[in-house]
Amino acid sequence: MLKFLLPLTLCAALSLAQPVLAQSQAPIVINFSHVVAQDTPKGQGALLFKQLVEQRLAGQVKVEVHANASLFGDADELQALRENRVQMLAPSLSKLGAYSKSLQLFDLPFLFDDLEALKRFQKRDKSRELLRSMTEQNIYGLAFWNNGMKQLTANRALRLPTDAKGLAFRIQPSQVLQSQFQALAASGVSVSFSETVAALHSGKVQGSENAWSNIASQQLDAVQPFITESNHGALNYMLVSNTRFWNSIPYKTRVELEAIIEEVSATVNQQAETLNHKAREQVLAAGKSTLVSLTEQERAAWRSAMQPVWKTYEAEVGADMLRAALTVNRR
Ligand code: LMR
Repeated sequence: MLKFLLPLTLCAALSLAQPVLAQSQAPIVINFSHVVAQDTPKGQGALLFKQLVEQRLAGQVKVEVHANASLFGDADELQALRENRVQMLAPSLSKLGAYSKSLQLFDLPFLFDDLEALKRFQKRDKSRELLRSMTEQNIYGLAFWNNGMKQLTANRALRLPTDAKGLAFRIQPSQVLQSQFQALAASGVSVSFSETVAALHSGKVQGSENAWSNIASQQLDAVQPFITESNHGALNYMLVSNTRFWNSIPYKTRVELEAIIEEVSATVNQQAETLNHKAREQVLAAGKSTLVSLTEQERAAWRSAMQPVWKTYEAEVGADMLRAALTVNRR
């Protein structure tokens, strides 16, 4: 538009000058920090994002990936993002409930039948709403990335919910997860991801819950003799940036970045299941932990023990949000 208002000679000069300017400008740097290993759904997603940005926006945008909490850990990464000391994260939704009460939805046990149901929900308008629910707090949601369904690990065999009584479970910082274990007459102790193995090893906690990819990459099976395949919840993430930083990226570049993110998110969400399946096989082949497979009735017992938690959080999460989530199950 501006071009039409300027004298022609100036236009010519500008159009010549722009590429030179663009080339001499330092690229925008996106530091992408996360707490997991590279060979996990999130680790692979971060690397694919870097690779596609390097291919398509070379010289304009540079991505630095910092894995394994090497730059920031659970305790400080969100604050660092809000202060633009890091520009991209993909925290699990359990770590975002403190910023957006509605996001606690994703921690409700036995809410989604499986990952497919969760993916269906993530495509709904309600989920788009959730991506924008922290914008004012300088946390800008870009996409949902999935890991896998969570399993229970423990120092004793957990077949029925009563078996968990009295155990302390490592949890992510989430009140819903705290309530979930209280519902079993157990307790939840918030421990950062990178300190989880040590906490299990020292006996500070005697159990945990996580997706197979994290169980394998953190070698939780070396310190937990039993794994119950409960699939009682999902571990999923929100790819987030700093609102002000994201909006400061020139429009055209931002559109290209958002297209890359869409592509990467589709790949992450497609491959997560395969990576978790491989991780499960790896843990079983190592033979350090005994797998406890639940019958339908046993799993139903876990569901009835944990499900009362929904009522406690219905008002905070929003009854409409809860209803919308439940419609994606095929039960
Ligand atoms: C956890 O703390 O267990 C997970 O959120 C780690 C992760 O990012 O997968």
